[in-house]
Amino acid sequence: MDQPGLEAIDIRRMFSAIAPRYDLLNRLLSVGRDAAWRREAVRALPASAQGRPLAVLDVACGTADVALEVLRQRPGAWVAGVDFALPMLHEARRKLRAGGFNGSCALAGADALRLPFRDHLFDAALIAFGIRNVADRRAGLTEMARLVRPGGRVIVLEFSRPAWRPLRWLYEAYFTQMLPWIGRRLSGHPTAYHYLPSSVLAYPSPEGFSQLMAEAGLEGVGFRRLTGGIVTLHVGTVRGGNGTGE
Ligand SMILES: C[S@@+](CC[C@H](N)C(=O)[O-])C[C@H]1O[C@@H](n2cnc3c(N)ncnc32)[C@H](O)[C@@H]1O
Repeated sequence: MDQPGLEAIDIRRMFSAIAPRYDLLNRLLSVGRDAAWRREAVRALPASAQGRPLAVLDVACGTADVALEVLRQRPGAWVAGVDFALPMLHEARRKLRAGGFNGSCALAGADALRLPFRDHLFDAALIAFGIRNVADRRAGLTEMARLVRPGGRVIVLEFSRPAWRPLRWLYEAYFTQMLPWIGRRLSGHPTAYHYLPSSVLAYPSPEGFSQLMAEAGLEGVGFRRLTGGIVTLHVGTVRGGNGTGE
C-alpha cells in the first residue's frame, strides 16, 4: 500500500542534502528529547539467543544514533545499519569511528524494502523515525520481520500525535509553524522541514500502525506513548519463538 507524498528518490535526495546538519537539527527541534526516545527503543531489545552476541539491524539508520545507543547499552552486540542516503552513512561512519565502535557496526547502502541479508539473521530489527518515509510500510515491516529470528523483535519508534487535546494543539502549532521555519534556516533546505510535519500529520494512529504490524505477521504487538504521545514506541515479536524473546 503506497502512501501519498514524496517519491523514494525525493526522500533520498532530501536526507542526503540535510545530512551534515541532521543531528544538530534533531537536538534543537526535539529540545534534546530525541536521545531519550532512542534509549527507550533500545531498551526494548530482547536477550540474545543461545549466548551468542546480540545481533541487531538498524534500518534507515541515518547518522547511526540508534546503532550507537545499542552498542552503549549492550556491549559486545553486533549491529548492521542500512540507509539509502549515502551522506547519512558517511556521518554514521564518522561517529562510529569517533566513538571507537567501528569494528562493531557494519554499514550498507540499501533500501528498506530490499534488505541485503539472509532470513532470520538478527535478534531484532529497529527503525527509528524511518518507517514514516518508507513507500510501502507494511512491506517494510514484513522485510524487517523476515530478517529476525523466530521470537526476536521488530521495534519501531516514530512520531505520533498526542491524544490529550491541549498538548496536541500545542504540538501541531509548533510542528506546522515554528519547526519548518527553524529547519529551513538551519538546514538550508527549502522543503525538508515542511515535509516532516506533513508526513507526521498524515501518519496512522498508534492503533492503526499496530494493526499494520500485525498484518506484517508480527505477534504480541504493543505500543507505548512517550513524552505525552509525541512519539510512540511499537514492539512486535516474530512468530515461532517461545514467547520470552529468547
Ligand atoms: C528521520 S531519519 C532517521 C534516522 C535515524 N534512524 C535516527 O534515528 O536519527 C530517516 C532516515 O531514513 C532513511 N530512509 C528513508 N526511507 C528509506 C528507505 N526506503 N530505505 C532506506 N533508508 C530510508 C533516510 O535516508 C534517513 O536517513
